[in-house]
Amino acid sequence: MSEPNWSFRTRAIHIGQENDAATGAVVPPLHVASTFVQHHPGEWREFDYSRSGNPTRKAFETTLASLEAGCGALAFASGMAATHCVTMLLEAGDHILAGADIYGGSYRLLHKICNRSGISVTLVDTTNHDALEKAFTPKTKLLWLESPGNPLMSISDIAGCAEIGHKHGALVGIDSTFATPVLTRPLELGVDVVMHSATKYIGGHSDLLGGALVVREPELLKRLYFTQNATGGVMSAFDAFLASRGLKTLDLRVREQSRTALRLAEALAADKRVAKVHYPGLPSHPGHEIAQRQMQGGFGAMLSFETVGDFTQTKRVCESTKLFQLAVSLGAVESLIEQPASMSHASYDPADRKKHGITDGLIRLSVGLEEFDDLWQDLDQALTTALS
Ligand SMILES: Cc1ncc(COP(=O)(O)O)c(C=O)c1O
Repeated sequence: MSEPNWSFRTRAIHIGQENDAATGAVVPPLHVASTFVQHHPGEWREFDYSRSGNPTRKAFETTLASLEAGCGALAFASGMAATHCVTMLLEAGDHILAGADIYGGSYRLLHKICNRSGISVTLVDTTNHDALEKAFTPKTKLLWLESPGNPLMSISDIAGCAEIGHKHGALVGIDSTFATPVLTRPLELGVDVVMHSATKYIGGHSDLLGGALVVREPELLKRLYFTQNATGGVMSAFDAFLASRGLKTLDLRVREQSRTALRLAEALAADKRVAKVHYPGLPSHPGHEIAQRQMQGGFGAMLSFETVGDFTQTKRVCESTKLFQLAVSLGAVESLIEQPASMSHASYDPADRKKHGITDGLIRLSVGLEEFDDLWQDLDQALTTALS
């Protein structure tokens, strides 16, 4: 099926997801084979070995590439395997500039793994273009963005950052896990490579682990494919099957979850027990105007807030919710709550957490698909329990 001019939602269901020619099955089959029979020695058919390529993985990659407007995609065993693949393009002596408000695991990869290969890392506030300009060195080979940022929901002007990065000759990558292609398509804004933890919104049901890279130019795709195949961190066929299924409802889920998140952010912002709310959909958020420009269909379903209580009371909020489950991860139909300082961002050096505003009192919410009224009632009772 060639790619017609279909809308996002139609492409999510049909591109790369053709019915099975052999049986007529509406859903493409799950190919679990590790190896594929060849006709002649040294003459390779499309698939030869599942690390190098697998039909079920390819179906997911094809759909995702279409949704992100990329020339191609590569699916990985996890989001971290995908990010690591990008950093493996660098060499000893190179320098990475990364946003200050990034996932704790990405911070750990950059500071505790990449450094072993002689690659240096600087964190910079990518919402501040003057600071970003000044942070480049002649050795900077990669600018790594995350918008909305994690856990403070900072909004970087993606097109502006990409322009600055390219001016300095750097590859520009972005962790777009929070935004998903429903809300933002960074390749259209000039970024070279988009990373997703498919574990989150793409899977959407807390039942798979995966990552993906989507790329603008074939030459970069070739280099990344070579690295992926050589190092082997590929997505399993079963996870790819689930990820394809997740993509079909991504648009509906993300829009609806974003709507509920906005209502919760508004309710929290109006509550006297809450000191601060970080959500790009609120006009008070410093990145609101940029978010309005570069996000379509909502501002995402992640938000964080600080209570007026002390550290112990903050922890008690996280322990007192009943619908919001205390767990890391995000993006699924179930709502989750966590304390970044001790959970998702525990890998940050405490000094970096402090410097970049990730306080011990910060609580992060992943808003699921439950009804707003039930979720608000749950937060309300948890705040009352914890702060009284
Ligand atoms: C924003 C973000 N990026 C990347 C990752 C890493 O993804 P994975 O857990 O699939 O390796 C996570 C995981 O929590 C995340 O939240």
